[in-house]
Amino acid sequence: MSHHLLLIFHLLGAAIWVGGHLVLCLGILPEVLKKKDPEILLSFERKYEKIGLPALLVMVVSGVWMAYQFGFGVSEWFHFSNPVETVVSLKLLLLFITVIFALSANFLVLPKLSAEKLPLMAFHIVSVTLLGVAMLVLGSFVRYGGINFN
Ligand code: HEM
Repeated sequence: MSHHLLLIFHLLGAAIWVGGHLVLCLGILPEVLKKKDPEILLSFERKYEKIGLPALLVMVVSGVWMAYQFGFGVSEWFHFSNPVETVVSLKLLLLFITVIFALSANFLVLPKLSAEKLPLMAFHIVSVTLLGVAMLVLGSFVRYGGINFN
């Protein structure tokens, strides 16, 4: 698949993932915490997860594929020896942390969500949103040659 088409899929995924989490974090969460009403959050989650999780999957597949097209396969990851590989490795680390938060939210917090657990759920939502924004910012460095730690 052409790099340009992969980038278009990647940006569509980013729009849904980062955009959706910013709406949740800034638009819905304040009302949920003020009214202490978990149902507002659950009804958003039910609608959003149908496109949110596929969007994350599209970004992972298109991102790894683009990384390979740049010449950085799995054996080059986490060396931080090349500016573009450094961006790819940092994004994979942030993706790993995002998956841990997503699993914790879906299996430990959401199933028994109550007014008492809303601050803990808020911590998950704010963390995943900040991780998504960080991956967006990191991705924008590639067109400028990546990040040089050396
Ligand atoms: C929440 C997850 C992610 C978000 C929001 C995200 C967002 C972005 C954005 C906005 C760009 C900049 C595109 C441009 O300059 O036009 C980008 C580029 C890139 N991303 Fe991601 N990304 C994510 C996950 C990943 C993952 C897991 C990888 C896998 C290694 C990855 C690999 C790349 C690569 C290689 C580029 C450079 C594409 C290019 O400039 O040709 N991304 N990403």
